[in-house]
Amino acid sequence: MNDDHPLHTDWSLDGTAARRERYYAASLKKFVPFADPIVFRRGRGQYLWDTEDQRYTDLLGMNVCISVGHSHPRVVSAAMAQAQDLTHCTTMFYHPAPAHLAEELAATMPPSEEWVVHLTNSGAEAIDLAMTMARTYSGNTDLLALRTAYHGPTAAAQSVTGIATWRHPGMPGNVAFLPEPNQYRGIFGPGTQPYLDEIERTIASATTGRVAGILIESVQGYGGIIEMPPGYMAGAAERVRAAGGVYIADEVQSGFGRTGDQFWAFEADGVVPDIVVMAKGLGNGFPIGAVVARKEVAAPMAEKFLFHTYGANPTSAAAARAVLAVMRDEALQDNARRVGARLLGHLRALQEKYPAIGDVRGRGLMLAIEMVRDRKTKEPDRETTAQVFEACRDQRLILSKSGPSQSVLRMVPPLCLTEEDTDRVAEGLDRAFAGL
Ligand SMILES: Cc1ncc(COP(=O)(O)O)c(C=O)c1O
Repeated sequence: MNDDHPLHTDWSLDGTAARRERYYAASLKKFVPFADPIVFRRGRGQYLWDTEDQRYTDLLGMNVCISVGHSHPRVVSAAMAQAQDLTHCTTMFYHPAPAHLAEELAATMPPSEEWVVHLTNSGAEAIDLAMTMARTYSGNTDLLALRTAYHGPTAAAQSVTGIATWRHPGMPGNVAFLPEPNQYRGIFGPGTQPYLDEIERTIASATTGRVAGILIESVQGYGGIIEMPPGYMAGAAERVRAAGGVYIADEVQSGFGRTGDQFWAFEADGVVPDIVVMAKGLGNGFPIGAVVARKEVAAPMAEKFLFHTYGANPTSAAAARAVLAVMRDEALQDNARRVGARLLGHLRALQEKYPAIGDVRGRGLMLAIEMVRDRKTKEPDRETTAQVFEACRDQRLILSKSGPSQSVLRMVPPLCLTEEDTDRVAEGLDRAFAGL
């Protein structure tokens, strides 16, 4: 930590709270998780330290951005070296860092297709671009999206987000929503086929009959870790393609080995998407997103200009290249699989002990527990979730209240979490539940 920095910074909680209160717009203040806020001063690996130097285990990974660990030295030094040479260079000029990154991202995709890359600043920008690309390529306007999906804060990304609390007035339209194939509480119960049949009915009734595409988070994140059941992604792609559209996989949360067995979560279903959207973990905290598309699908965009001023920024690109290298060198996908399985086991043991836990789900390091008032009625229990969440803070565990009813505790830690961490997390969760 460099306290010689020439900009004076007041690190006090009161000072920060007062400045936020006075100067942040309402839209920037709303999304605060804990009743008592925390000021974080530094992070390393899977841990964060507050201004009192108390250590927390970060099971939220700063909203899934921290993939290889907080302030990973290789990522920081790659970005710093690039920032010192040339902090920014737009795509109007040539620079090798984003060009290498594009090559390296394309190499992570299924080899059956020729892939091309458009770098953005965020996930929502990448979602917007994917929507435009789908509409341009297909010549159709209507899009399909899933209820309980979260795709981002821009107007277009909101229009495909299926949770009312994130949808503001004035979004663009032409989006038809499908019931999410939630195996715990979906409207058709468990199984895949009824949800696929509903896609056909929706295309036939709520669109022109021809669609631009469908957006699916391969595992819904903010919606509460909703895994797509076997065959759903492949079946959805087949039905949407038959109606003229493309399959867009949103891997913003589920990508980069987080689910353990696959690098991209769509691979679990054997589906090859037309467009893949990614962000968050790609930069390990540096702002960057990307659309990776089949070359043929991206080609019609050549008709008009589309320019993200900071997209393909070499500093973020250098960071992202280092992220991909660290993931490989530290075998983090395998770690996510192994450590995630252990954490899942701990969560299942807690479910045995506490009736408030209705469901435990997820894979790799993308896990959740859902709280219910009654296991039979499955009525979501927002209050207990909030209490456990606050109690977790006392146990120095950072996680996320998620799902449309805020009744899910979501765990998406940095991929370097260890098995010993999971044991301490389980003890902390146990104490949090026991104290209810
Ligand atoms: C699945 C998913 N897609 C898209 C986004 C939007 O990304 P960003 O916040 O970088 O705009 C998010 C952000 O939480 C997300 O979880």
